[in-house]
Amino acid sequence: MTANTNHIMFYVFPTAQDIARFVSAQIHQLIVERDRLVLGLATGSTMKPVYAQFINEYQRHHPNLQHVHCFNLDEYIGLPAEHPQTYAAYMQEYLYTHMPFVQEQLYLPCGKDWPSQEECLGFSKQIQALGGIDLQLLGIGTNGHIGFNEPGTSFDQQTHVVALSEQTRRDNSRFFADKKEMPTHAVTLGLKDILGAKSIFLLATGEQKAQIMGQLQRGPVTEELPASILKKHPDTAILVDEAAAQELDPAQCKEGTVLLEKIEIY
Ligand code: GLP
Repeated sequence: MTANTNHIMFYVFPTAQDIARFVSAQIHQLIVERDRLVLGLATGSTMKPVYAQFINEYQRHHPNLQHVHCFNLDEYIGLPAEHPQTYAAYMQEYLYTHMPFVQEQLYLPCGKDWPSQEECLGFSKQIQALGGIDLQLLGIGTNGHIGFNEPGTSFDQQTHVVALSEQTRRDNSRFFADKKEMPTHAVTLGLKDILGAKSIFLLATGEQKAQIMGQLQRGPVTEELPASILKKHPDTAILVDEAAAQELDPAQCKEGTVLLEKIEIY
């Protein structure tokens, strides 16, 4: 396959906090403008400043949230429901306990018991039944995974069970007090589901993401780098801070401050 960078633009922001301000403002704008809004949400350390900023804005302006639906990307398989490192627990801690959402607005793939193929596809179908995802937030693994779609995953897959790569298990074991608890498998929205989102923001912050960002910008669309499929998506923006931008070609980037200047909400 050949490189195709027509559709995605890399925006470089001074800091992760600037990215959080921009993304939070975009979500608030959609909340105000739309009659129904379907959000695709991610977890991980990258998203924490985004959700903190979003809560902050919510507490100042209290927009109506009754028409908002939130779908999560992925979940570990095999952790007990009460384990603090489930992504369900993450969403509660960093977003949902601070907002007046009701349970019916929140959708998380269930990894407590090994989900059947039918249950996995049911999750993709729930998204379709609501008209698809309007805005999908993505982080990225150091190996280029999005959601938990590891290198080698078919671009055509919907929600499915994955075996986590050694690199991902090493990276994510930093969140587990006892490293032996780090799961071996997860359930994730597939690349086909993600590509179905109308708009996508992929966020990458910190120098540990610099190398994969360089590869993503320079390289071809290939299943070996799952995030590269975003080059085929009609409305994706890659938002990076300066630390993650170190290996990007500046000639192929725009300044994120241009986007910050356009924020008009409230
Ligand atoms: C994790 C999650 C992704 C997340 C990514 C980046 O493994 N499955 O959904 O976006 O990797 O994580 P972090 O933001 O902690 O670097």
